[in-house]
Amino acid sequence: MGSTLKLAPRMSAVKESPTAATSAKAAALIADGRDIINLGEGELDFDTPEHICEAGILAIRNGETRYTPVAGTDRLKQAIRRKFKTDNGLEYQANQIIAATGAKQLIFNAMLATVSEGGEVLIPIPSWVSYPDIVSLCGGSAVHINCDEASGFKLTPEALAEAITEKTKWLILNSPNNPTGTVYDAAELKAIAAVLINHPHVMVLADDIYEHIIYDGQFTTIAEAEPALYERVLTVNGVSKILSMTGWRLGYAGGPSWLIRAMEILQSQSTTNASSISQAAAAAGLEASLDFFHPRLEALRNRRDVVLATLKRTAGCLSAGIPQGAFYVFANCSGMIGSTTPNGGKLVTDVDVASYLLEQAGIALVPGSAFGASPYIRIAFAIDDTRLAEACERLVSACAKL
Ligand SMILES: Cc1ncc(COP(=O)(O)O)c(C=O)c1O
Repeated sequence: MGSTLKLAPRMSAVKESPTAATSAKAAALIADGRDIINLGEGELDFDTPEHICEAGILAIRNGETRYTPVAGTDRLKQAIRRKFKTDNGLEYQANQIIAATGAKQLIFNAMLATVSEGGEVLIPIPSWVSYPDIVSLCGGSAVHINCDEASGFKLTPEALAEAITEKTKWLILNSPNNPTGTVYDAAELKAIAAVLINHPHVMVLADDIYEHIIYDGQFTTIAEAEPALYERVLTVNGVSKILSMTGWRLGYAGGPSWLIRAMEILQSQSTTNASSISQAAAAAGLEASLDFFHPRLEALRNRRDVVLATLKRTAGCLSAGIPQGAFYVFANCSGMIGSTTPNGGKLVTDVDVASYLLEQAGIALVPGSAFGASPYIRIAFAIDDTRLAEACERLVSACAKL
């Protein structure tokens, strides 16, 4: 008998993360002996910096191996408060801060605490794969606002105004954006905020996880750009990307105390606190300078440029604007749609394009449809330079075979 017969109906609202599925597919092919280059992972290839690892080891040696307060240790909360003030001009009290097992858990907790049947959450598309599923799992409706390539995949104030209803609970804003690399400047955020000011029932979740990974321009978050929204914004961030700590699972958020308290209560009944060791390591990372990241950012910029130059060699198969932040190129693959592969197959969708590139060229990447936009492919370029160069050659030659 199928296991689906035993599952709760809510499981129909959620699918496996397509990025995780791509990595699992790549890993299975690699285990079969295939040479696969994974351009599907939302993860930097850099190691966690030494001073952070040392702080984690020290925490173990010092016996910091017990439960901590649910919302985080005093030291970590202090480090987060200082970070928000220094980097973002945001003042939060200790009861306005919470740490969790990754930014993903914070987003989940925020939605679970506030969204129920009928509640609408506005999601500019293309978006990170998890927002719509998290909203659906909480019983809410994910309302997609399509943002076109021609306008840099940016949410416009007009599109936002049109999408807001009485049922709207949240707008989720992600800058720099996964998958497009789009970055909103202060003026654009202020224009979006001007719409929200007229709708006091709408909250904003600012997902700033790619803060500091910016090639051109200046990072701003919406609560900083428009202080009048401060009471309605949950600012989510974490150490996964900037400190290369994906596996440590540590995210944090600042926001109104009533919401933070509700998220804390939920967390007290699920994972309790984030790992005590990860908290100590993250605190050390947040307390220290980010100077170590400068050469890393330059390496990422070079890789971005390598990918963009490669797309120009695909004879119209692929094209993309210049991502200002994060580490993805969201390439339009309409030039490949309708083509016939050397095996006689037809490329009808971006899922076909991703499958073709996996099978023909040994490159794993995620189709745009996973992010709500087609036909695109997301190229995650935070991998070793030599492997990236090899992937680019394979891409050019796979396109030439169509
Ligand atoms: C836009 C966005 N938000 C949140 C996350 C999750 O981050 P964390 O590792 O802190 O859970 C990711 C991870 O890929 C992401 O791309």
